[in-house]
Amino acid sequence: MAANALGRHLALAGFMGARKTTLGRDAARLLGRPFVDLDAAIQQHSGSTIAELFERGEGAFREIEERVAGEVLASPVPAVIALGGGAVLSEATRALLRERALTVLLDVDVDTAWGRVGGSRRPLADDRESFGRLYAERKPVYEEVADARTTETEGIVLAAGGVRVETGSLQRLGELVPGDGPVEVVSDARVAGIHGMDAQLALGARARATHELAPGEQAKTVESIEALW
Ligand code: S3P
Repeated sequence: MAANALGRHLALAGFMGARKTTLGRDAARLLGRPFVDLDAAIQQHSGSTIAELFERGEGAFREIEERVAGEVLASPVPAVIALGGGAVLSEATRALLRERALTVLLDVDVDTAWGRVGGSRRPLADDRESFGRLYAERKPVYEEVADARTTETEGIVLAAGGVRVETGSLQRLGELVPGDGPVEVVSDARVAGIHGMDAQLALGARARATHELAPGEQAKTVESIEALW
């Protein structure tokens, strides 16, 4: 599981209407990276719209999608890539994402997603019932590919740098901290009083020490860093 997007692509996964393109473009600008929208790349590559490709059959569309995803992920320049909602159904694409990207899942609930794209010209967003079924089917696949998850641009940018802002992260600290070696926790003394025990519990045998710093601005000094070193 990738811990950050340093030297890797940052791929955005999620259902239709999760705002992968909008937030991806914003995050790319803030990170100073090129932005690639997979659906746009597919259309450019094939000279057809997504709807036209679907008219030839979903299988044909998925083949082109997998091929273009492979090309985009093979690029050596780390980019922000907005994947199409179904791109992660391909095992080959999932393997490339594990190898070459940090994959951030953009969470969206099904009603919000339908409110944004329902009845639109997207091929799989014309009927509420099948849209709901597809959402339920896809959920476990999205969970599987997600290295991090968020709903906001800020969350994407922080995840790129290895900072996780997610409900439940404290309880998952053991799996979120890369590797399997010992871990030392650095914390504001007040926060350590409230959450230190949960952090220790989540890290289990990996927890080696907790270093407490004075709360507030007074601890944000080179001397504090020196003391930690
Ligand atoms: C699809 C999502 C679409 C597009 C195509 C299929 C899907 O992209 O790739 O219509 O299977 O979920 P967005 O998720 O950007 O809408």
